[in-house]
Amino acid sequence: MNILVLGGSGGIGHAMVNKLRETYPEATIHATYKHHQPDTGRGDGVIWHRLDITLEEEIKQLSQNIPQLDWLINCIGMLHTEDKGPEKSVQALDGDFFLHNIKLNTLPSIMLAKHFEPTLKRSTSARFAVISAKVGSISDNRLGGWYSYRASKAALNMFLKTLSIEWQRTMKHCVVLALHPGTTDTRLSKPFQQNVPKEKLFTPKYVAQCLVSIIANATPAQTGTFLAYDGIELPW
Ligand SMILES: NC(=O)c1ccc[n+]([C@@H]2O[C@H](COP(=O)([O-])OP(=O)(O)OC[C@H]3O[C@@H](n4cnc5c(N)ncnc54)[C@H](OP(=O)(O)O)[C@@H]3O)[C@@H](O)[C@H]2O)c1
Repeated sequence: MNILVLGGSGGIGHAMVNKLRETYPEATIHATYKHHQPDTGRGDGVIWHRLDITLEEEIKQLSQNIPQLDWLINCIGMLHTEDKGPEKSVQALDGDFFLHNIKLNTLPSIMLAKHFEPTLKRSTSARFAVISAKVGSISDNRLGGWYSYRASKAALNMFLKTLSIEWQRTMKHCVVLALHPGTTDTRLSKPFQQNVPKEKLFTPKYVAQCLVSIIANATPAQTGTFLAYDGIELPW
């Protein structure tokens, strides 16, 4: 089995890489990082690739460097930058910040599907799984706020649903999933953890265990669904 984890240097992504290594020691695991290649020790069996996901040419190059692939798991995303966080009001909206959210939360999965489609087509057990977020659910939105992040994840969800419909026709064996990890203790959620009850703030290790199990057990009948870490189907 050949697996690619995009964002293998992130909080959730790195835990996913570790869980996959443990569960599938025979698998070839590729993982990407942008800034720092995680130190997982020598001979860890992980093939690391440096990737800037905002550059389509680099995604295309990566797809050409990985000739065989069964599972693609995208864990890249952003919620805040060094000087800007999610908006509390419409007055806080900033076009560049909105577009930055789209560039990291929406466009990557679109470009990954475009460039890895031929490779995934050759697999008999293909999975295209993306870490989305429950706040991207339109029907579940009761609190408001976080305009750019919500919109970028809602657009991601629409893309994944649409992709699942096309691939149901052209890649019957492939399962497309949008996954919600729950609030997880990573760099991304750090500034927003103060009001999260202790038992609702998950470790990346726990989340990776839940998500790997969902991906492994998913059937083609589940393609185009939005699933939480506990396997519950979420409304779009
Ligand atoms: N944590 C939560 O509570 C939570 C809740 C709901 C959904 N999510 C979603 O889960 C996913 C993973 O989040 P996380 O909490 O693990 O975040 P994280 O620890 O901040 O990891 C983000 C990852 O994205 C990569 N990345 C950022 N910019 C990139 C670029 N231009 N090119 C390539 N890679 C880039 C980072 O690489 P480097 O480290 O190498 O820069 C890192 O691997 C995100 O989609 C997030 O929206 C998280």
